[in-house]
Amino acid sequence: MIDKSSPLPIYYQLEELIKKQIETGELEPGDALPSEREYSETYQISRMTVRQAVNQLVQNGMLYRQQGKGTFVAERKIEKQLLGLTSFTEDMQGRGVQTSSDVVEFNIVLANAYIAGQMQLKKKDPVYEIKRIRLAENTPMAYEITYLPATLLNGLTKEAAAQSIYRYIEQHLNSPIGQAKQTIEASAADDVEAEYLQIAKGSPILLIERNTRLKDGTPVELAKSVYRADRYKFKVDISR
Ligand code: GLP
Repeated sequence: MIDKSSPLPIYYQLEELIKKQIETGELEPGDALPSEREYSETYQISRMTVRQAVNQLVQNGMLYRQQGKGTFVAERKIEKQLLGLTSFTEDMQGRGVQTSSDVVEFNIVLANAYIAGQMQLKKKDPVYEIKRIRLAENTPMAYEITYLPATLLNGLTKEAAAQSIYRYIEQHLNSPIGQAKQTIEASAADDVEAEYLQIAKGSPILLIERNTRLKDGTPVELAKSVYRADRYKFKVDISR
């Protein structure tokens, strides 16, 4: 409940209260949040305070607003371990979630200077350029552009790319994937990303670039992935 004599700000107490209702399932994803007026009457607090609490929860992605309709409880974010070199398929299967991919483009192109440099290829060496929408239970979660050395992975088909590319790499080369360098940046969805991810243009996204090698050091992948920031958060255990 809200304790007005507590040193904790009231908006913060309300924020925690709503969070708890979401965590315990009292409020479920898709549920409409009670109105500002209802909260303000129930707890005898100002509507400004209610708005402040709700704004905080919209900002951290637990709630979302729909113009003209109100405020709703968002789907739970997928918590992804920051450490651990897993594939999208493994991430989803580990959660018991049905996964699929839409291969929107599948081409062989010539490596530009950046791709060649990252993958230890020569400029203009052939690389697969594969653009995929990655879905979980039919909801688009990520959009990925993947470059793979075409000579090393010859024979890759569009059908195989609709499945796990990591599995293909390991089976085709009979060698395990070993390590990757990865960066994560904040970004905003452009037209294409917004369309593929079914979010509004300009929505926050997480831009992840991964440069992956086999255990023996052979570069096998350069991927640019765009994850929905409203559905993902990264988690890491740290200590000192
Ligand atoms: C993740 C990584 C990508 C990688 C993909 C492979 O999404 N961010 O860099 O290409 O997994 O997934 P899969 O083996 O399911 O095709």
